[in-house]
Amino acid sequence: MSAEIPPESRYPLDNNRLPRHVAIIMDGNGRWAQRQGLRRVRGHAAGAESVRLVVRQARKVGISFLTLYAFSEENWQRPGAEIRVLMALLSRYLQRELKEMQDNQIAFQAIGNLSRLPQDVQEELAKTAAATAAGAQMVLTLALSYGARSEIVAAAQAIARAVKDGRLSPEDIDHDLFARHLFTADMPDPDLLIRTSGEFRLSNFLLWQSAYTELYFTDTLWPDFREEEFMKAVWEYQQRERRYGLTQEQIAAQGASRGPRT
Ligand code: IPE
Ligand code: IPE
Ligand code: MG
Repeated sequence: MSAEIPPESRYPLDNNRLPRHVAIIMDGNGRWAQRQGLRRVRGHAAGAESVRLVVRQARKVGISFLTLYAFSEENWQRPGAEIRVLMALLSRYLQRELKEMQDNQIAFQAIGNLSRLPQDVQEELAKTAAATAAGAQMVLTLALSYGARSEIVAAAQAIARAVKDGRLSPEDIDHDLFARHLFTADMPDPDLLIRTSGEFRLSNFLLWQSAYTELYFTDTLWPDFREEEFMKAVWEYQQRERRYGLTQEQIAAQGASRGPRT
């Protein structure tokens, strides 16, 4: 990795128990700015720097899938000027980080109702995904114009169409088939979901996929969430026991905190 490696972490990780997939609700940019008497959009710019540093740290630690909630379907209701700044920051981020992603074998993709995004952003997303497709070390997913309920409804519609056309029978519909109709079809469910800024809600993020995800909430605002905060969240994840409905004794007998996918 590149030169600016942060000092040794206070949170030593067990490499045998790394979460495969970490998802983050990056919240608190606006409050971070307002607390300093700045305009909200300044918080988004500072938040983009956190994205850069956390992506780099996740890659360094050995996380296979990192999914970042950057813009929700509901965020379209924000003031137009704020949305425009967010879109501009997104384009700039993709342009600036392309080389780093390629150098570090990171495959980029975006999920969500992407057709609502400005044309130039859609093109930048497609270009970045194509240019990084060979990345084999980490999949970086940005959730943009994303809403989990819409994702689930779209999956239900696709499955209903397949049944109507006779390509599928209702008995074929199970957890796996349903999951294959979501944006995340090719990804494991998140093991760890982080939300910053002291809010305790999912805000329409990965509702199906997070059925057994470990949740981690921190008061830290996203622009202040940097490498060490990320290490702390993963470290705390490693202190937990995932039981998937079983008893502690059953889990101990299994010898590992593994569990069913859905
Ligand atoms: C998260 O920060 C970024 C987006 C939702 C796009 P916010 O903009 O929601 O910041 P707060 O929650 O208002 O502080
Ligand atoms: C959730 O943050 C969406 C993103 C981080 C992109 P919001 O700030 O939009 O969530 P609410 O409105 O507080 O639930
Ligand atoms: Mg917010």
